[in-house]
Amino acid sequence: MTSVGRILRLALGAWALLLFVALAAPVQAQQPGLVNPTASSVKEQQLFQELNRIQGRVTIPDQRSGVLEQPAGRDWRNFRDVTLRWIGGIAILGMLAALVIFYLVRGMVRIEGGRSGRTVVRFNAFERTVHWMTATCFIILAISGLNITFGRPLLLPLIGLEAFSDWSQWAKYAHNYLSFPFTIGVILIFLMWIGGNIPNRVDVDWVKQGGGIVGDDHPPAYRFNAGQKLIYWIVVLGGGAVAITGYLLMFPFYASGIEGMQIAQVLHSVVAVLFVAAMLGHIYIGTVGMEGAFEAMGSGTVDVNWARQHHGLWLEQQKARDAAADARSAAASPAE
Ligand code: HEM
Repeated sequence: MTSVGRILRLALGAWALLLFVALAAPVQAQQPGLVNPTASSVKEQQLFQELNRIQGRVTIPDQRSGVLEQPAGRDWRNFRDVTLRWIGGIAILGMLAALVIFYLVRGMVRIEGGRSGRTVVRFNAFERTVHWMTATCFIILAISGLNITFGRPLLLPLIGLEAFSDWSQWAKYAHNYLSFPFTIGVILIFLMWIGGNIPNRVDVDWVKQGGGIVGDDHPPAYRFNAGQKLIYWIVVLGGGAVAITGYLLMFPFYASGIEGMQIAQVLHSVVAVLFVAAMLGHIYIGTVGMEGAFEAMGSGTVDVNWARQHHGLWLEQQKARDAAADARSAAASPAE
């Protein structure tokens, strides 16, 4: 009887112990701080719930690079993979569609009365060199940047893994290194043309009359009309914004932590896709949209009739300046 009693007591004790362990385990899992994050059996999801972020130890000096997952990272990834693609797709394809429709409806803006055959200097060699250097960098930066956003879903299925990774690697080198001449170009454009790009009353009338592009009026303008001033400020402010945020991303952790870099990436990518859409409009006007415009940046001179039609006030200033220079040289040369 005593041995039966001992066996019963042992069984009851074992049962009580089991019950205690079974009840205690989930309670422990819910208490923050009781999970050993370095234990090999810890699940990623559990760790994330416990600590709100997943981080470990790294051997490089900057310990901030040890963060693998943090809550805002999920929102940021969703922005990058979904929202940004929508914003970029709508802005760029929308602008392309608008330009095609506009061209079909309006056609090329012609020089009224045709060319005069006389020309006037519009941009000197230095200005044109700065413009084309900045434009070349911009186009390569735009293509290589759009590859980061759209390359995976659009290009990878077409050209395959190996070709895509080779191309993406070169595109990334180009994106990093061409940022430097592009930034210098934006600074030079800012300094070179700031004089002609301060908004004034003439711009208000120019906008009211549709800029001579919508409708058939030819509102007067000085060297740069309101539309060009808009492009100028988009280049200066948009270029400045992509440069600053781009360098924050290119040199990680120097000036900000991971949250700052997420904000920098959002700003960089949104400004960049809107910038590309705006420059498509600029390229349209500078080429197929307006007769006689391209040569301003090509040879540097424009037809006098083009200048009178689009920049009448500027043409008057140029004539007055030339007349004053002629008068000065006539006064300086000895009478015969
Ligand atoms: C293939 C590309 C491009 C073409 C064909 C083009 C053409 C032109 C032309 C013809 C002008 C002179 C307009 C005039 O005489 O009034 C001009 C001006 C200008 N361009 Fe471009 N351009 C291109 C790309 C770019 C890019 C990528 C940028 C900057 C990132 C840029 C920035 C400017 C600025 C700031 C001006 C002065 C303001 C204005 O006229 O709108 N251009 N461009």
